[in-house]
Amino acid sequence: MKVMAIIGSPRKCGNTELLVDRVIEGCMSRGNTEIEKVFIADRNIQYCSGCLTCTFPPPGTGKCVLRDDMDVLIEKIRESDAFIFGTPNHMRTVSAPLLNFLKRRDTPHNKFSFLRGHSSLLKNHSGGKSGSHAFLCWW
Ligand SMILES: Cc1cc2nc3c(=O)[nH]c(=O)nc-3n(C[C@H](O)[C@H](O)[C@H](O)COP(=O)(O)O)c2cc1C
Repeated sequence: MKVMAIIGSPRKCGNTELLVDRVIEGCMSRGNTEIEKVFIADRNIQYCSGCLTCTFPPPGTGKCVLRDDMDVLIEKIRESDAFIFGTPNHMRTVSAPLLNFLKRRDTPHNKFSFLRGHSSLLKNHSGGKSGSHAFLCWW
């Protein structure tokens, strides 16, 4: 099984990577698992321009018009069976790099939505008294 671990923290070797590494260890212990770690903050991902080309069929193409590292990442995602999302809680939400990445995925209404049909684990941990939160999501 191919698993893609998407780390939303801008900090290498921080709490998020530590937690994601524990999840990876768990996955690896099941054997026959190939895991790729991706630091989203290291990638060139432009902001969604809101052109809506990805949303609508003709005259839209159903594909994002921006050419950047999302091309490579979408290919990797298509080849993956499952995903781990790790993010620090930044201002009560996911980190800016991860949010930008999630906004650039094809719209959920689109039949080409690249995460649909995959299973994902979203870990959103908190440094505050609010404690930790884990979300298991199926796309
Ligand atoms: C800019 C910023 C905003 C943060 N906002 C929150 C928050 O709203 N709630 C919270 O519980 N922790 C918040 N934290 C704490 C981080 O979520 C926590 O320290 C996390 O473990 C950092 O992960 P990292 O080591 O991967 O960077 C914030 C940290 C930073 C740097």
